[in-house]
Amino acid sequence: MSATTATESSSLELDDIQGGAIHQRPSPYVGTYLLLRIDDRQAGQELIRRLLPAVRSASAPSDPAQNAWVTVAFTYQGFKALGVPKASLDSFAPEFRQGMAARAAELGDRGESSPENWEKPLGSTDVHVALAGLSPDATRLEASFEHAHRAVEDLSGVEAIWRQDCYQLPTGRTSFGFKDGIGQPAIEGSGIPPSNPLERPIKAGEFILGYPDETGELPPMPTPSVLGRNGTYVVFRKLHTRVAAYRRYLRDRAADREEEALLGAKMVGRWQSGAPLALAPEHDDPELGGDETRNNAFLYGDDRRGLKCPAGAHARRANPRDAFDGDGSVDVRLHRMIRRGTSYGSVVPDGVLEDDGTDRGIVFVFAGSHLKRQFEFVKTQWLNDGIFIGAPREQDPLVGRPAGNGAFTIPKQPIRRRLQEMPPFVVTRGGEYCFAPGLRGLRWLSELTT
Ligand code: HEM
Repeated sequence: MSATTATESSSLELDDIQGGAIHQRPSPYVGTYLLLRIDDRQAGQELIRRLLPAVRSASAPSDPAQNAWVTVAFTYQGFKALGVPKASLDSFAPEFRQGMAARAAELGDRGESSPENWEKPLGSTDVHVALAGLSPDATRLEASFEHAHRAVEDLSGVEAIWRQDCYQLPTGRTSFGFKDGIGQPAIEGSGIPPSNPLERPIKAGEFILGYPDETGELPPMPTPSVLGRNGTYVVFRKLHTRVAAYRRYLRDRAADREEEALLGAKMVGRWQSGAPLALAPEHDDPELGGDETRNNAFLYGDDRRGLKCPAGAHARRANPRDAFDGDGSVDVRLHRMIRRGTSYGSVVPDGVLEDDGTDRGIVFVFAGSHLKRQFEFVKTQWLNDGIFIGAPREQDPLVGRPAGNGAFTIPKQPIRRRLQEMPPFVVTRGGEYCFAPGLRGLRWLSELTT
């Protein structure tokens, strides 16, 4: 790749990028995910034409309170159903072509999380289009997304095959009780101020195709460039959370509610309020947790031994920040991701320790240019495995693989504490690898004649 090409490509074309990739979701929010099957190619193209007016670009005003986002993405099977030529299909990342279900063993989706136990039709060849609508309230969701929904309803040849509604719980937290969506990378050239002034913004090419990434190269981009450029890979996973089991586990190991909160925080790396252990190691600090100018402004370099935040805590595993700087073993900047997760299902009232049988959890959403070295690497090497933190037999205490031995070490002086026999608290209900093209790419798909 010539240096000239890289320079020419470096200014982000925000007016062509789907807004949902760059902008944070509103808070509070209500939303819907819809999966569609295309039975007739021309109907599929008509669908895209009808959806286009609802898809806003990343150059639209970024005030989340004003906005409703509709995001459109396709699976490999979806591109096939739309008649995308073979040369183009072959140019997508191999993991995308295989689909998430085929990657299940690598990802640790085994036993009850394995694809044969997934919610139908997740992971099947029927899933072609994924639509997401997110809005600050039901009225605005109705205005933007229901338009899209109706576009599907009266179109024969395109079938809605799955729907998942989501909304921010009244607590403003996810089902385990933690504030989520705080740690996000700053994207160079996006115009969005970084939430961690201690970190250099990440090159846009790590998240949006067509621009140099952290290696200085352009990441492999699907062809033709009208389809690949300004697009991004999207991963969605419906993850059921066992809230009662999680609470019982902590209750059985803590002397009181205070210790329970501390053990929970050690597992996540943040207190429930969102306050990071790195800045509030002893007690929760709700004011810090709610302060967007401070709650992500930290590194781990002064806490190599994990006395404040254990190296095995979920958020520290998922983004170790500067914890490995200087030893040359990990370049964290190559493994970052944009997250756009949402909650589904009702909240478990405070103090309840018995499972009520309700399905609840998060729809985890990733966006990035590299399925393998971002999402898959973090899931397999950092969450499902403990080698990189020197504890090979330990997995992520929140989302580690079900076959693990369920141990979690909390460094402490004079002696560390080790939690054992932690059952799986998260079960994969299914998911898919998708690609969200830029707006020009969507138009190209709608006009494709082959
Ligand atoms: C049910 C499953 C999950 C739950 C409940 C969960 C919860 C959380 C919470 C509470 C945080 C801390 C708040 C924040 O920084 O936003 C967090 C951070 C994070 N999680 Fe998860 N998570 C889940 C699954 C995953 C998965 C599967 C991945 C990646 C493969 C992941 C990647 C991350 C990343 C990258 C961060 C930000 C770390 C940082 O920048 O400091 N999470 N998660």
